[in-house]
Amino acid sequence: MKRIVEPKVLYFGTPVVLISSRNPDGTTNLGPMSSAWWLGYTAMLGMSAGSQTVRNLTERPDCVLNLVDPDMVAALDRIALLTGSREMSDAKWARGYRYEPDKFAAAGLTRTPAELVEVDLVHESPINLEGRIEAIHPIGEPGSNLRALEMTIHRVHVREDLLMANERYIDPLRWDPLIMKFTEYFAGGTPAYESSLARGWQMPPLQLDKQV
Ligand SMILES: Cc1cc2nc3c(=O)[nH]c(=O)nc-3n(C[C@H](O)[C@H](O)[C@H](O)COP(=O)(O)O)c2cc1C
Repeated sequence: MKRIVEPKVLYFGTPVVLISSRNPDGTTNLGPMSSAWWLGYTAMLGMSAGSQTVRNLTERPDCVLNLVDPDMVAALDRIALLTGSREMSDAKWARGYRYEPDKFAAAGLTRTPAELVEVDLVHESPINLEGRIEAIHPIGEPGSNLRALEMTIHRVHVREDLLMANERYIDPLRWDPLIMKFTEYFAGGTPAYESSLARGWQMPPLQLDKQV
């Protein structure tokens, strides 16, 4: 038996990514996001136009995608409700966001200059993808403020222990992406950490004792 319902969010489970983009003053902003998928060397990224990340990428399209593994979840969550933008919508304010110009310091993550683009990448990320935004497409209903950013990947950094003997492949048994599912963090199919984003969105708490 199925029911017709209208869920508040349709985030069925996608990898968590930290986007490095360049602020007007030349420093690097880190934008946590999870609406990301890849086809060939193109990445498609779903982001709100109200984020500092989209503001930066509209003006300065070079960026790095820092993929997040479960060891980074506490650092990631420390910046879950921070924005690099001084201005924010009332909705964001109500969810508990505040302005933070240095997300590396706030997260406790280490900056390393990227090789091809003028932003810092996240040293702790096992995988960093350097590239450039080629196009920004409005998506959703008129006024939704949502954008799909089309990125071409130009350089791929992978931690050695994640590579198969033939270095053209990343080992799916060893790469364990942190997944965001309905605003909650999961690793290896199980809950990974208490999510500040879920609390900001007033999602119902996970009933861990009732798991089947
Ligand atoms: C785990 C996680 C996943 C998120 N996924 C997205 C997303 O896919 N798209 C989006 O627009 N915002 C997403 N957000 C919210 C952004 O992080 C938020 O808009 C933030 O302000 C972006 O930072 P910035 O304003 O400094 O760019 C996510 C937040 C977290 C913590």
